[in-house]
Amino acid sequence: MLAANWKMNKTVSEAREFVNTFALAVKDITDAEIIIAPPFTSLMAVGEALRGTNIRLSAQNVFYEEKGAYTGEISPAMLKDAGCEYVIIGHSERRQYFLETDDIVNRKIKASLKHGLNIIFCIGETLEEREKGRTFDILKTQVTNGLKDTDSENLVVAYEPVWAIGTGRTATPAQAQEAHKFIREELRKLFGANADSIRILYGGSVTPENINSLMACPDVDGGLVGGASLKSDSFEKLVRFNRRIK
Ligand code: PGA
Repeated sequence: MLAANWKMNKTVSEAREFVNTFALAVKDITDAEIIIAPPFTSLMAVGEALRGTNIRLSAQNVFYEEKGAYTGEISPAMLKDAGCEYVIIGHSERRQYFLETDDIVNRKIKASLKHGLNIIFCIGETLEEREKGRTFDILKTQVTNGLKDTDSENLVVAYEPVWAIGTGRTATPAQAQEAHKFIREELRKLFGANADSIRILYGGSVTPENINSLMACPDVDGGLVGGASLKSDSFEKLVRFNRRIK
């Protein structure tokens, strides 16, 4: 799975233009699931442009309540209605700038699953946590609390070390594999053998240059890509990573 997280980028017309070019460029690809997560304002336009293609629509965030007086928020049912199949939950930028806790993340996941959305659940340690040797503790807490009382179906996990996001400092394949393996073991504690079919994506400065070595890791099942997904030719290179290596 290769997922484009556009974050707060692209107007509606820019988004439409991207998708019209990109969808044609990747229409032959059948062995990777391709996802685009535009900002809320472009969901409808991108969803329409993606109809009948091999690309799926994701939102970048959601609120856990069904409806009501929550100014500025969007519910899972609204995302479904707008054509989303996926939603990204718990991105480190949400945790960092919008104070999302593991409990909020957990509520968002449960509400979204109830409405039939697939989840891209993001976790990852900060540089300070890594340097203090707390990476595994943090990942364990995020997995255990974030996925409390959920199930493994419709779940994708994204390991995104915060120090690698938007910094150009990618985790080495060894660092990614070590973290992914650990996450897989934690998922097994929650979901038993079903954990083996959960895709674990790596995110954080993924580029066409480093994708092959990351995807060669046995527990790396895809990528969640920010900066390098904003240009059609670059995202196309990513979804065409060299499958022979694995
Ligand atoms: P980046 O972002 O590829 O720009 O590092 C990844 C992400 O935050 O999902």
